[in-house]
Amino acid sequence: MTKPDPRSDRSEACDSPDITGDRYHVETWGCQMNVHDSEKLAGALESVGYRKAAGRHDADVILLNTCSIREKAAEKVFSEIGRLLPLKRKNPRLIVGLCGCVAQQEGEAIFARAPLIDFVMGPRATASLPRTLERLRAGDPSAHRTVDTEYREDSIRFPFDSIRRESPETGKAYVTIIEGCNHRCTYCIVPTTRGREVCRPLADVLAEVRSLGQKGICEVEFLGQTVNAYRDDEGNTLAELLRATAKIDDIARIRFTTSHPAQMTDKLMDAMQASRPSLCPYLHLPVQSGSSAVLERMRRGYDRETYLAKIGNLRQRIPEMLFGTDVIVGFPGETEEEFEQTLQLLDEVPFDTVYSFTYSERPGTRALDFGDDVPLAVKMERLRRLQARQREIQRGRNLMWIGRQVELLVEGCSKRDATRWTGRTPDHRIVHFAGDSAPGEFVLVEITAATPYSLVGRQCATEKNSRVTKKGSLDEAHRASSA
Ligand code: SAH
Ligand code: SF4
Ligand code: F3S
Repeated sequence: MTKPDPRSDRSEACDSPDITGDRYHVETWGCQMNVHDSEKLAGALESVGYRKAAGRHDADVILLNTCSIREKAAEKVFSEIGRLLPLKRKNPRLIVGLCGCVAQQEGEAIFARAPLIDFVMGPRATASLPRTLERLRAGDPSAHRTVDTEYREDSIRFPFDSIRRESPETGKAYVTIIEGCNHRCTYCIVPTTRGREVCRPLADVLAEVRSLGQKGICEVEFLGQTVNAYRDDEGNTLAELLRATAKIDDIARIRFTTSHPAQMTDKLMDAMQASRPSLCPYLHLPVQSGSSAVLERMRRGYDRETYLAKIGNLRQRIPEMLFGTDVIVGFPGETEEEFEQTLQLLDEVPFDTVYSFTYSERPGTRALDFGDDVPLAVKMERLRRLQARQREIQRGRNLMWIGRQVELLVEGCSKRDATRWTGRTPDHRIVHFAGDSAPGEFVLVEITAATPYSLVGRQCATEKNSRVTKKGSLDEAHRASSA
């Protein structure tokens, strides 16, 4: 299948029309929101004439789009900046901008630690990028070392036609619907780096989704730090958005991330159920801890029982639904018993993916008052036990897929084995398979082997519909084979 290129229809996006012909390079750390923000940064630059460079070595502008969720992530950024020094010496015209969450968190202080940085721009200031560069290029002294960390209310209204999507050929696209976070989890830096919640009008989101569908995109993933807190000025919520998106013919798969358990309402669950089969049966629902006492200290706004009840409720409505989660081990004061409650939770909820982290102190968060009192060795040992347990659970669950047929949306060549393709099932499993395919195609694959983290299979060559591109046409086959 040849797909129209979603990049082909560019409109002038941002506030400077200057054509430079210079080359840019963007490097990204962090979550899906940051990955998508980089697509916006690239789009803002291309709309004023910049072209993508082959790499950092031949770029005139390098943007570092950073993450500060844990100390290690933030520190990595500074070591990367150090590596840019030889490039900066070689090319005095090179401009390096620090963007994203570290930029927002550190602001002016960056220049003392990393003098080669030319400007600092927070995640809510993307639209000002072309103007900042134009002024720097023109030698405007007031542009040197500018810091733009304003929490712009209108940052959410980015001109979507200018977004430069990284891999449109995969048929998948991110769509931001809400930015910022109004929660105050005691360990988390995101409310500082991203500001308070702002939501896009439903009509604007749907216009983007329809436009993506017309350009060959068949899977959209709605993004937000707390995506299920979405509510526009007219009172439309994620529930209304899902129902409306499910009616758009071109869109075969709908996902959304990241959801907060406290905001997983019955109304939203009803809408999820009603939006099948387009709504994919996978939900990432970060629990953080299996201990109600720890959840209380984290100020998560729910306890263990409430979390379990929500999972139960969702499984009742959508039995084929799979779950992923995030866990923090070694939160201040976490006792062995509290940690074991998290371990036990893994046996109670059939998670298929668990992202686990050791607690990391972050500037300005309330958990600083608790002290970081779980020794590093204990944190690491808990992390190891948690990951070992989950690995065994996933191994067992994945083995059950051998012999079944699954529907995949093909992402590209397998990174480990160039003779194989990689795709994802609606429930977000990764499958590597042998066959004749291309990115962005739907194929039917029979599973032949399993590891804890992925499945292996072969394309169903004899199936009439082994290469199906129409919405829902594989869904029945998928359900029949997984029953
Ligand atoms: N908005 C999402 C989380 C975004 S941050 C939610 O509410 O669940 C992604 C994950 O990083 C979190 O789920 C948490 O598990 C982890 N994380 C956040 N702050 C952390 C910290 N200070 N130390 C360790 N892990 C952290
Ligand atoms: Fe951070 Fe909590 Fe907001 Fe998630 S809900 S981004 S963990 S403050
Ligand atoms: Fe990191 Fe910022 Fe995302 S801190 S996880 S890039 S919101």
